[in-house]
Amino acid sequence: MRRPIIAGNWKMNKTIEEAVSVAVGLKRKFYTFSEADIVICPPFTALSKVSDKIIDSSIMLGAQDVYSEEDGAFTGAISPNMLKDAGCRYVIVGHSEKRALFGETDEDVNKKLKIALKHGMVPIMCAGERIEERDNGMTFEILEKQITRGLKNIPRDEALRIIIAYEPVWAIGTGRTATPQQAQEAHKFIRELIERLYDKEVASKTRIQYGGSVKPENIANLMIQEDIDGALVGGASLDVNSFTEIVRNAVL
Ligand code: PGA
Repeated sequence: MRRPIIAGNWKMNKTIEEAVSVAVGLKRKFYTFSEADIVICPPFTALSKVSDKIIDSSIMLGAQDVYSEEDGAFTGAISPNMLKDAGCRYVIVGHSEKRALFGETDEDVNKKLKIALKHGMVPIMCAGERIEERDNGMTFEILEKQITRGLKNIPRDEALRIIIAYEPVWAIGTGRTATPQQAQEAHKFIRELIERLYDKEVASKTRIQYGGSVKPENIANLMIQEDIDGALVGGASLDVNSFTEIVRNAVL
């Protein structure tokens, strides 16, 4: 009932030429593909060129971040209008690397979600616990805090557009994927939280992706879980063949 969505987060990888080459490779594989939404999130510098290449395919473009202001004296920041101008419809917000390395807070995430929604974009909001938090039994508490604060004062009709990515920090780039059961348990908690924050309809329509060492070998067992609707893929999205296999195995 919920349409699967597989997104590739390329992080700080690839020159423009390299990014275009992967995008063109993916376009060949998924020129017409209707079984899932496919989104790629190259670095800012490559967005516009990649957009030109994939514009007439089923692959959609996303950015890895957005700033929470329209324009002005914010050196180094990128506004939603700039992202849309470069061809982006999706934007990742609150990735754990932004939180841990760049000091992004739940309040920043909330502001970014609001401005992205205001500009008609589709935000992918990330949330997830660190290993010490999981070991201390705080996983649900952390998810509740990040998601409740992130969604603060966002009306239900706009919340319907948000995609949530559950990304346990200990699984990101470590090769240590959450088991399908661990992921399902967290996704179910998130869906119930959305119901508490909004209502049953929003909860049943919200797509929740899993992220953290997703590979062609483990995607199928994650996707069969009831509350897992897709994946946010880092390392394995950098290569045409592995990302293609992930998308294909996700909809088996
Ligand atoms: P990974 O990254 O697939 O390399 O673990 C996931 C992410 O950070 O979104």
